[in-house]
Amino acid sequence: MNKKILVTGGLGYIGSHTVVELQKAGYTVLIVDNLSNSNIKILDQIERITGIRPEFINFDLCDDILVYKLAKENSDIENIIHFAAYKAVGESVSLPLKYYQNNLYPLINLLQAFSDRKLNLVFSSSCTVYGTPDVLPVTENSPVKKAESPYGNTKQICEEILSDTSKANENIKIISLRYFNPIGAHESGLIGELPLGIPSCLGPLITQTAIGKRKVFTVFGEDYDTLDGTCIRDYVHIVDLARAHLLAMKRIENENTREKYEIINIGTGKGTSVLQAINAFENATGVKLNYSIGARRPGDVEKIWADATLAEKLLSFKAEHSLKDMMSSAWKWEKYLKENPM
Ligand code: NAD
Ligand code: WQD
Repeated sequence: MNKKILVTGGLGYIGSHTVVELQKAGYTVLIVDNLSNSNIKILDQIERITGIRPEFINFDLCDDILVYKLAKENSDIENIIHFAAYKAVGESVSLPLKYYQNNLYPLINLLQAFSDRKLNLVFSSSCTVYGTPDVLPVTENSPVKKAESPYGNTKQICEEILSDTSKANENIKIISLRYFNPIGAHESGLIGELPLGIPSCLGPLITQTAIGKRKVFTVFGEDYDTLDGTCIRDYVHIVDLARAHLLAMKRIENENTREKYEIINIGTGKGTSVLQAINAFENATGVKLNYSIGARRPGDVEKIWADATLAEKLLSFKAEHSLKDMMSSAWKWEKYLKENPM
């Protein structure tokens, strides 16, 4: 029988792409998602891609009673990928408690409720834990700087909770993946990033501008100390990122982990400026983007990209998709959404 895996936040951007990869690899997926930042139609889309409808339960993982019930009713689940969290950095500054509550309670509830068994856990962390790095590229040993936002702080605290729990509970093995900047969509064009409200990330802002949902894309600053003056990030294709979760789970399941708690960067190892990203979009799609240069965005990191060698060594993970693939797939998804609004 196929192994069952719990995917929290499995209808969200990274979760939905990961569910597709897990199903393709033969896992039986149970999604828990409260739809706070996703759409139920994504369940149909996953089924359209894979031919399999994942089991889905709609509830809030902050509710410890429901998490205990879930664990009790699914005594066969030993694998969890925990995506469910809020992720809007700006909102976390104005509503910190919303973020501390939603990003910490579900993790604690899961760790408590599933503590009665052998557990393999993959956790969504973020390059945000590095803040503004002193040395590039950032390795997993680069210092974790004081968080610049409550959101970033929740990821740091979650990593500490996981480290402490792995030491105290001999039945648990954990990998935290520190993602860099996921972008793009599934090659089918049937799932992708689905921002509810105004997006804040580069990918959907570019495609929404190009399709006419917004008038202009503003480049946040051109006076940084970079090759063309704009900020640099490590953009990683969403399907590559999804595959990294599968590899991380396999590593734990196959008892290949060297430590009970491991931390691994997931990026491409390459930095791309905002203007290079725009250029890649235009080249990939043949569509001219209406953009203008604006002021710096407060709090922006000037440049950051990953040292991706540990992922290659431990997971045999190497990003396969190019920036062009990221842009063309994101564009395919944006055009799909125009024809099929969700
Ligand atoms: P997303 O918002 O698209 O997905 C999160 C999903 O979790 C949503 O479907 C939402 O409805 C659900 N959810 C949130 N709180 C919940 C709760 N209390 N109970 C049940 N479901 C809940 O976000 P994403 O981009 O897919 O990010 C997934 C994870 O990866 C998050 O932990 C995020 O912090 C982390 N991350 C994201 C990025 C990024 O750029 N997208 C980068 C680094 C890390
Ligand atoms: C990318 C680049 C902007 C919008 C976020 C989170 C971080 C982590 C990764 C979750 C930057 C520029 C953007 C626009 C622009 N996520 N930009 N005009 O800043 O790397 O970080 O994602 O853990 O916590 O903060 O990503 O997509 O917002 O920006 O010029 O309209 O695009 O300045 O250089 P960022 P982003």
